Amino acid sequence: MIQSRGFTFRTCSHLIRKKYYVVSRNASSALPELTSVRYKVERGPYATLTDGHVNFFTNLLDQNRVVTDPDECEGYNVDWVKMVRGKSRLVLKPKSTEEVSAILKYCNENRLAVCPQSGNTGLVGGSVPVFDEIVLSMRLMNSIIDTDEMAGVVVCQAGCILQSLEEHMHKVGLIMPLDLGAKGSCLIGGCVSTNAGGLRLLRYGNLHGNVLGLEAVKANGEVLNCLNTLKKDNTGYHLKHLFIGSEGTLGIVTKVAIQCPPSPKATNVAFLGLDSFDSVLKTYCSAKANLGEILSSCEMIDKLSLEVCTKYLHLQNPITSGGDGHNFYMLIETAGSHLAHDEEKLNAFVEKAMNEGIIADGTLSSEPSKMQNMWALRERITEGIMHEGYVFKYDVSLPLKDFYKIIEALRERLKSPEIRRISGYGHIGDGNIHVQVATKEYNDEIAAQLEPFIFEYVSKLHGSVSAEHGIGFKKTKFLHYSKDASVISLMKQIKRMMDPNHILNPYKVLHPL
Ligand code: FAD
Ligand code: MLT
Ligand code: ZN
Repeated sequence: MIQSRGFTFRTCSHLIRKKYYVVSRNASSALPELTSVRYKVERGPYATLTDGHVNFFTNLLDQNRVVTDPDECEGYNVDWVKMVRGKSRLVLKPKSTEEVSAILKYCNENRLAVCPQSGNTGLVGGSVPVFDEIVLSMRLMNSIIDTDEMAGVVVCQAGCILQSLEEHMHKVGLIMPLDLGAKGSCLIGGCVSTNAGGLRLLRYGNLHGNVLGLEAVKANGEVLNCLNTLKKDNTGYHLKHLFIGSEGTLGIVTKVAIQCPPSPKATNVAFLGLDSFDSVLKTYCSAKANLGEILSSCEMIDKLSLEVCTKYLHLQNPITSGGDGHNFYMLIETAGSHLAHDEEKLNAFVEKAMNEGIIADGTLSSEPSKMQNMWALRERITEGIMHEGYVFKYDVSLPLKDFYKIIEALRERLKSPEIRRISGYGHIGDGNIHVQVATKEYNDEIAAQLEPFIFEYVSKLHGSVSAEHGIGFKKTKFLHYSKDASVISLMKQIKRMMDPNHILNPYKVLHPL
């Protein structure tokens, strides 16, 4: 135990960290209104599903991989946040690239629209149909193909669950380079298709760097083999990047090769209480300067974000015994190769910040159960806030000096009694804040006060309207706030070239085309 200015720090013996992994179902049971009705969307010129189409798919796949039962289809029609709802009457579950290829070839020839779906944890309405698009569920494409321990590379089908890959790699002393609260449910192909960021991006970078290669099926069924496993390969156009973050609009990702770093030998977590956002910024700068190469996560949580975890999920705040707690919290993780050395560094950094009056309170641990509790307070905010009812979610990048002002601006602007909570948290180390406005239920007036205001606000500060969740269905109208017209124009040309019949995930990313 280290005593510092009356605050207590506990350090415990090291064991491998295990975090909370499974995404519980959204607490709200009400089904959202149909997307096409709520957002007044017009159906594209696609064929309507017939018995003949269904027969084709039943001959291709076996009966139990062709879902037509309306109750079973419902789960694939509604997104995790219950923000959008489609009305697909068919879900297909391929097991191989060849099956995906045959499905797309047929859909393209018959002008049947397709919505690719992996774990359905996407937060921008991209993973469910808007009308009656056929859902292409990737869940059964879940084989690990090859593990190269020495090079640190895993090759697998796109339907592997992120957590299963993490567990698999752990056995050979490696980790996945990305980590999200949804890891128990999201699939690697879904993560690649959204270019998911998550909690380790600060340390290992994003998927454009970590995906060494991939295989994808184009709209016409052609298979594109970019399944490289080399760290260096500078031979011409880097086409894999077209599929990373294109949210199923350019092709279906069927296999991926990912580089996996060595499992850290020592992990420590500090959970800190701070009284102002200025102190959060100072702590972040100090963490970068003092923890250097062992810093692996730097997350910020405001008081109202933390409260959903303590109030609804009954998690313990480890540094508040009674009282109102702090205005801000930070979770800082180090991952290195020498426990005593890393602990010493983390202790020294926290002690210094406390002595300078920047950090008000805190606790440090390398004990798995304690680290797990601290991480749960961060990772389960998405789940906790759903207990309020409906949540308007925004995921933006902002310059650090303006990072939290968006929450203050929204609190100033939105005065409706319908609002239950306006809160912010996120990956401060990556300049990415998640903004949540919770209401009892979806409310048109509040939506109109929020949008486009929030996107204009972000654009004026030269931020991004989507830091990591993507554009999906929800942000198509706001893409121009972050992308120049010249870029959107080229994106549309690429889309038309790769998917001339626009069968892949219509109404998403680029709409209207
Ligand atoms: P889905 O939601 O099924 O699909 C996402 C998009 O990709 C859709 O547009 C879909 O059509 C398309 N798609 C899916 N599979 C394929 C494929 N094989 N080929 C082509 N297109 C495909 N995101 C972050 O970036 N960082 C986080 O920290 C983070 N944390 C989260 C925590 C929780 C609790 C939840 C619910 C979500 C979180 N997310 C986070 C959102 C994030 O986008 C997803 O968790 C993940 O990236 C989506 O994976 P999925 O398998 O669920 O894909
Ligand atoms: C997170 O960082 O927790 C996620 O991106 C999910 C969210 O924003 O709810
Ligand atoms: Zn996030």
